[in-house]
Amino acid sequence: MEIAIPDALLDAARQAQHIAVLTGAGVSAESGVPTFRDAQTGLWAKFNPQELATREAFARNPKMVWEWYAHRRALVAQAAPNAGHYALVEMEKRAPRFTLITQNVDGLHARAGSQNVIELHGNLFRAKCFREDVPVPNWVDDGQIPPRCPRCGSYLRPDVVWFGEALPPRALAAAFDAARTCDVFFSIGTSGAVEPAASLPFDALRHGATVIEVNPEETPLSNRATFTLRAAAGAALPKIIAREQWIKNG
Ligand code: OAD
Repeated sequence: MEIAIPDALLDAARQAQHIAVLTGAGVSAESGVPTFRDAQTGLWAKFNPQELATREAFARNPKMVWEWYAHRRALVAQAAPNAGHYALVEMEKRAPRFTLITQNVDGLHARAGSQNVIELHGNLFRAKCFREDVPVPNWVDDGQIPPRCPRCGSYLRPDVVWFGEALPPRALAAAFDAARTCDVFFSIGTSGAVEPAASLPFDALRHGATVIEVNPEETPLSNRATFTLRAAAGAALPKIIAREQWIKNG
């Protein structure tokens, strides 16, 4: 189906001094990475988040939780960024100021070439000490599952945000600052089911930004957004970029 990109949407993007973008699992769906809430294929349809994505679950069964994240890492390692990721790399080059905020932990934006990605929910490919809660860049893989912290010997855990945990404060502050100072805010491939990320587009609206939703499905943002593109990110974003010759206001 041909996607119509309204001229007024392109005008808003063309004139923007600062574009902020929030992405969710939907932007990686076309790379073969499962989303969370798709009824059939979503991770939370197959696995119980209370058994895999909380501190309590890890304390109960660290081996099972670590292996589940290792399985997700292997899946993502086989995936490649898609046209949606690459269109955002282009958008970053063209906008005078650009902020990319993601809920995704797959690292595909950075692999596509995006710079300074704000990772609100962490990253699958990083680990931290379960006891000290500090990042551990290098650890000895001596076959123990989970591996151990080289400093205190406690378990390592994936450096992702689990349910009931706070988001990294600096990333969160930078995300809300971008939502409140941008001219155009894109919300791409997110169901808007998880706070505080879900509040970002509404905050941008309250601060006068043009808000553009890209999602094949309806979300709580749909009837509030300035523009809604009912389409896949990999189809809609390249179209916005293709038709848009942004003059870099260096
Ligand atoms: P969800 O799985 O909740 O939502 C994915 C959204 O992407 C849905 O609204 C789909 O309609 C949409 N979608 C699917 N394919 C798409 C495509 N090709 N292009 C554009 N959109 C598409 O995932 P998130 O909103 O990212 O948090 O979930 C938010 C958070 O909930 C995650 O970061 C994770 C999860 O629990 C934590 O783990 C802390």
